[in-house]
Amino acid sequence: MSNKPYTIITSEVTVDGKLTLYKGASSKELMTLMDIEAYKYLHQIRAKVDAIMVGCETVRTDNPSLTVRYVEGKNPIRIIPCGSGNIPLDANIFSKDAETWILTTPRMSEEIKRAIESKGHKVFIFEKESLDFVEIWEFLYKQGIRSILVEGGSNVNWQLVKNHLVDEIRLIYIPVIVGGEDIPTLVGGDGFKSLSKVLHLRLRSHFVRGRQLITEWEVVKNKK
Ligand SMILES: NC(=O)c1ccc[n+]([C@@H]2O[C@H](COP(=O)([O-])OP(=O)(O)OC[C@H]3O[C@@H](n4cnc5c(N)ncnc54)[C@H](OP(=O)(O)O)[C@@H]3O)[C@@H](O)[C@H]2O)c1
Repeated sequence: MSNKPYTIITSEVTVDGKLTLYKGASSKELMTLMDIEAYKYLHQIRAKVDAIMVGCETVRTDNPSLTVRYVEGKNPIRIIPCGSGNIPLDANIFSKDAETWILTTPRMSEEIKRAIESKGHKVFIFEKESLDFVEIWEFLYKQGIRSILVEGGSNVNWQLVKNHLVDEIRLIYIPVIVGGEDIPTLVGGDGFKSLSKVLHLRLRSHFVRGRQLITEWEVVKNKK
């Protein structure tokens, strides 16, 4: 697929690959362990892309702002896939700092749609019961989005990985181990379950920022 935004997944992960302390917990608690150098690295990426995406569950759990604050730069357009349309109207993503687009289905109530639009943000309703990410990526390209940073959670990361929409993965390792089963990891969903289908990556660079190891991976498009 060539007419799609260049796509970078960036995530803060523990050394054991977890995104948060337990299922349902906000990752903001874990992120208090990150030092300013890691935040600057993350916000430098935010400042360079046209758009930023997190899943609706991350909005409900973490209430992120998704703005550029630790470096100078413009705020990207905030894009949230939310099939249910169940999104808190007082969420930080509805601040005036940047434009927000909600991608949803006919399940979103007319009342919530109108309330979001009255705040100056946009709602796009896709006809299918569940959002098709290949269709979304084509749609975003047509809307002029050429680069997008996806910051999770593991459900949205899986939608991208399974549809081969990712170009790069950048990981900020928080130097702790959380342990436990049933805790969101970098990529969730059903999984590929077959070696012939797994996503192949090539390490492009690795370096240290503050206390965090950072690794940058390119997705290998042609395995030959
Ligand atoms: N460490 C980090 O970098 C990081 C970053 C982000 C999040 N997190 C953590 O990750 C957890 C949340 O991750 P998560 O995997 O549970 O959820 P998520 O990926 O943030 O959001 C999933 C939700 O997005 C919507 N969605 C995704 N794909 C869709 C589709 N094809 N069609 C329609 N709607 C779709 C659905 O919302 P509806 O159910 O409303 O339809 C779905 O429930 C939280 O604990 C958060 O703290 C960590």
